[in-house]
Amino acid sequence: MFTRYLLLLLFAPLIYYPVQGDIDLDQWISKQHKTSFETILDNINPPGTKRGFFAASLSTHQPDYFYTWTRDSALVARVLTSLQETNDTLLHDYVDFQMDVQNTSTRCNCLGEPKFNKDGSSFKGTWGRPQNDGPAERAITFLLIANRWLDNGYKDTPWIHDTLVPAIIRDLNYISKVWYQPSFDLWEEVLGTHFFTLMVMRKALLDGIDFFKLSNRNVEEYKLASHLIGKRIETFWSEQHNYIMATQNVQNGVQKPSGLDVSTLLAANIIASRNDGFFTPGSDKMLATVVALEESFEPLYPINSQQSDALGTCIGRYPEDIYDGYDTSVGNPWFLATAAYTELYYLAIAEWEKLGVSVNSINRRFFQRIMQVDDGYYSPESATLKEIIKKTTHAADKFLKTIQFHQARNGSMSEQYDRYIGFMAGARDLTWSHAAFITASKAKDSHLIQ
Ligand SMILES: *[C@@H]1O[C@H](CO)[C@@H](O)[C@H](O)[C@H]1NC(C)=O
Ligand SMILES: *[C@@H]1O[C@H](CO)[C@@H](O)[C@H](O)[C@H]1NC(C)=O
Ligand SMILES: *[C@@H]1O[C@H](CO)[C@@H](O)[C@H](O)[C@H]1NC(C)=O
Repeated sequence: MFTRYLLLLLFAPLIYYPVQGDIDLDQWISKQHKTSFETILDNINPPGTKRGFFAASLSTHQPDYFYTWTRDSALVARVLTSLQETNDTLLHDYVDFQMDVQNTSTRCNCLGEPKFNKDGSSFKGTWGRPQNDGPAERAITFLLIANRWLDNGYKDTPWIHDTLVPAIIRDLNYISKVWYQPSFDLWEEVLGTHFFTLMVMRKALLDGIDFFKLSNRNVEEYKLASHLIGKRIETFWSEQHNYIMATQNVQNGVQKPSGLDVSTLLAANIIASRNDGFFTPGSDKMLATVVALEESFEPLYPINSQQSDALGTCIGRYPEDIYDGYDTSVGNPWFLATAAYTELYYLAIAEWEKLGVSVNSINRRFFQRIMQVDDGYYSPESATLKEIIKKTTHAADKFLKTIQFHQARNGSMSEQYDRYIGFMAGARDLTWSHAAFITASKAKDSHLIQ
């Protein structure tokens, strides 16, 4: 702790004076997009690994992240699938690797096994299992890949129907069966029932129902499960707190009394393309949660009061976090958590542009931080909504500037950045950090990933 403060004093001048303005934000974004895309490619199938292996990071020591997580790889492949420049061979490798993984013997003996070795075998050590968001994210990505290939005629249709579709069905059937059972959360720390996990499960099932619309496949089981999951998701709203609680039914693991967690926002970003207003980025309850979480991090991380006002709040996973990237001491802000704010703001703006916005007792606090505005409905044409959107755009970009400021000068992004001095911490070039930057910048371009 003492050395951290010493460092803080040493680097205080560096931290105080902002560098943004040195490079125009848009210029930085297009440069960073290239760097992030290339870094993701470097982390896929590095030497000595099976084809289709997506490393969470190339870091093999303190911490060792040289594994492929079903969750991380699905979320990264989802982003790649949305990019024109992605080589389809890469996606094919991802699918092949994951289909093998579905058949690999695991300790969990279920599709919720969280991580796999570089040769495709399953990790057999003690770990939090199952993690049932994995098969849901994989199904979402497989469906996206199937649609990409069917749409542009790249792949032979028989292969999609005879090989890829059965793999999708395995994941969807699994979700339909296990959704109500306790599972470890996306941070691998708490066994319970999680808002994030249920949200991605619901999207996977609904995307599956859409996909099978034109076939005569019976999807009644998926319809029933997605309906029940939706009902359960609604119970995560806490009227008392005026925000969404991340977890219920905790069996064991880390205690998080606040219930605030950036995973709630990550879920909203992933499901945004459902466009049904059900806990989407622009929905009242989501915005209430967004502001409550930001206000919990503001006083928690010393860096937030030391950095320039031109930057947005540094955001971590959840306020009670004590994981420092290798060990436990104090939690730090994360790049992917900070990027989630940019993405959510822009996705919310897209909703308001279509539907207008109602400022009310639930979301009032969110809007009041943006600007002085009375309760009431504002149509897309109204001057007030235009002003809200302008100010929200500015706020969204501030989070990108936070990332720009705290990343390495060459465009690298580790998992975390230090809560005292802002320097990068944790696994180097976390693949998900770079994917999160790309989705955030795509949301800024009004590009919605399905
Ligand atoms: C895609 O990747 C494959 C395998 O690495 C390679 O053979 C092929 O040339 C690449 N295609 C393009 C268009 O870059
Ligand atoms: C996985 O197992 C299923 C069921 O036994 C089988 O139909 C499928 O061909 C296998 N897939 C792979 C990639 O080995
Ligand atoms: C940036 O520099 C670091 C440290 O030298 C290196 O590990 C990393 O690969 C570099 N990143 C990029 C994107 O060049």
